[in-house]
Amino acid sequence: MKILVTGGSGFIGSTFIHYWLTRHPDDSIINFDKLTYAANPESLSDLTANPHYQFVQGDICDEIAVDKLFSDTIDLIIHFAAESHVDRSIDDPMLFVKTNVLGTYTLLSAAKKHGNIRFHHISTDEVFGTIIPGVVDVFSESTPYNPSSPYSASKASADHFVRSFGKTYGLPITITNCSNNYGPFMNPEKMIPRMITNLIDGKKVPIYGAGENYRDWLYVTDHCSAIEAVILNGKLGQTYCVGGLKETSRNIDLVKQIIKLMNKSEDQIEFVADRPAHDNYAVNWDKVHNELGWEPKETLTSGLQKTIDWYQTHESWWRAAKTEAEAFYQRLNAARNK
Ligand SMILES: NC(=O)c1ccc[n+]([C@@H]2O[C@H](COP(=O)([O-])OP(=O)(O)OC[C@H]3O[C@@H](n4cnc5c(N)ncnc54)[C@H](O)[C@@H]3O)[C@@H](O)[C@H]2O)c1
Repeated sequence: MKILVTGGSGFIGSTFIHYWLTRHPDDSIINFDKLTYAANPESLSDLTANPHYQFVQGDICDEIAVDKLFSDTIDLIIHFAAESHVDRSIDDPMLFVKTNVLGTYTLLSAAKKHGNIRFHHISTDEVFGTIIPGVVDVFSESTPYNPSSPYSASKASADHFVRSFGKTYGLPITITNCSNNYGPFMNPEKMIPRMITNLIDGKKVPIYGAGENYRDWLYVTDHCSAIEAVILNGKLGQTYCVGGLKETSRNIDLVKQIIKLMNKSEDQIEFVADRPAHDNYAVNWDKVHNELGWEPKETLTSGLQKTIDWYQTHESWWRAAKTEAEAFYQRLNAARNK
């Protein structure tokens, strides 16, 4: 099978490419990625000589570049490429409209034009908005969309386009809406790697608000196995919610757990002004479990330990990205404090 992966140089995409080629070594993957600030080509440097892996740099919004990818027969598209950081979406929403909405539309049009190619779209539970106790206690496939941030609004719009191409043109689509991922190779702008790398650097760990917001956490290779299950055995036209644990974790408890695992002090916790429209998330993944037999393997403790070990031993991978991410947060905080 020949697979087009978009955004394969980012966190989940690069983990997925390794995951897939290890388990399906006869398949071939083309990784189409713009290499934005969020990408790190180092994550895939071990595959440079692999004849089953090819990298093409390009923008999913570029119709001509996307069209060219189909000069070879493509059997399956797995669409990871996105602007993925909520705080950046608050800063620059138009970029999210372009990449996440227009980019997804461009890929869908190409998939339709080149023979209704199977299209799997990677989405987020953030499209459902926030948990409202007594009203929406947990997200599932039937939860109405109610996005809060420009990021989640752009992902929600993309999901609607994907479904509409399934219904209107018969494009064989599937969607996974997953909870927050964590693991190695994640940009240190995101919460868990930012906490870990701040602790490594002996710096304070900022927590939004009082740290009461909660979510469930999905270890990245558990997400990859869920995508694999949906690609191989999922029903066309369907959405599958994918979550980490049946219990959720408050941000304050999460940071305390990381501090404990790293033998650091809780004095390093610093409470900062809350993010606007800060959501709570919890995913019910019964459907993917009951239909496809999927369940996560990692507990939060085992996944965090693996993640901490990796950041402690891979500073050369994350240092430059951390410098850039901290500069971004400084600009963001200055703008919010105006
Ligand atoms: N990280 C999470 O916790 C999480 C949770 C739920 C869903 N998701 C979704 O999973 C997908 C992957 O997330 P991630 O965390 O790996 O993201 P990431 O930010 O780490 O990587 C995104 C990748 O997409 C590429 N990209 C961005 N714009 C592009 C464009 N216009 N053309 C081509 N490539 C482009 C970037 O260069 C980067 O390699 C996204 O669709 C995201 O919305 C992520």
